[in-house]
Amino acid sequence: MIIRIRKNSDIPSSEITPESAYIDRRKFLGASAGIGAAAFLGVGSPDMGPFHAASPIPGSGRPRGPQDLEPNTWEEITSYNNFYEFGTGKEDPSKQAHALVTKPWTIRVDGLCNNPGDYALEDFITPSTIEDRVYRFRCVEAWSMVIPWRGFPLADVINRAEPNTSARYVAFETLWDPEQMPERLWRPRIGWPYREGLRLDEALHPLTLMVNGLYGKELPNQNGAPLRLIVPWKYGFKSIKSIVRMTFTEDEPPTTWATQTPGEYGFYSNVNPDVRHPRWSQSREKLIDSSKLFGYRWQETQFLNGYADEVAHLYEGMDLKEFF
Ligand code: MTE
Repeated sequence: MIIRIRKNSDIPSSEITPESAYIDRRKFLGASAGIGAAAFLGVGSPDMGPFHAASPIPGSGRPRGPQDLEPNTWEEITSYNNFYEFGTGKEDPSKQAHALVTKPWTIRVDGLCNNPGDYALEDFITPSTIEDRVYRFRCVEAWSMVIPWRGFPLADVINRAEPNTSARYVAFETLWDPEQMPERLWRPRIGWPYREGLRLDEALHPLTLMVNGLYGKELPNQNGAPLRLIVPWKYGFKSIKSIVRMTFTEDEPPTTWATQTPGEYGFYSNVNPDVRHPRWSQSREKLIDSSKLFGYRWQETQFLNGYADEVAHLYEGMDLKEFF
């Protein structure tokens, strides 16, 4: 298995929370600071999670790599972020996003569905069973993490909205409030708000999550509070943060990065080590690991980010290179 699915009732979040481990690791790092850099190499890395023996990934011709599911630390996940509304630097969101007011929060559901409306966040979440899931996360910039999210299947929300038969896609929008979001320098060509979208069958896939928590706690603002999307087999920019709107459409909706730089980013954006970004290779990834000298270690990128067994069938007959 390459995902861990745990129901709330099965396991207390404290058991998946190596926050103390993180603190211990920091103590270790602090204590080791005086030791020469070379002494750091290979020392202090977390124990590795399950390692799955190499087996071919259907249709890819590639061996499956190790499935490293040891979560990154809270500190790593919440201090190295992309959230351009709060700045383009990796540390900007953790410094600036506290200004985001997430209570109360309303999500508009509209477009081609039988139950459109403005839903309070609580009403959006409460009918669903909340689960903790550890997923690999791969940014198109080639860094990666392993993240213990808390959330519920997007399919729950879609089924409650009852899309009608002509709906083929679902589009998402992030809040855009320049009063709360200090980004002034970077303006997407499409304009704010940040937009993303999925084909309806991708959105209904059981791996696709609406996320409202991390490490069993409330989702921090820099990670997309109070509600974000996680699509683990796609590059991270598909996983839109701080969602205020979901729209069912017949046509493929415009999305921020594919509109901004169409030669570099596409609508599908499935993780694929064989498809180069025009400016860099995607064959390897930097797993963020602050115990290492440079803060990461290299590993092989996995086709569909390691979730090929679960999702490759969604793309049968499609040339994934063409449909980047
Ligand atoms: N959502 C919004 N609204 N704005 C953004 O800039 N960045 C995307 C995605 N969702 C982004 C966003 C990118 S490029 C990545 S890699 C992930 O969020 C990063 O999520 P993380 O900061 O929780 O790791």
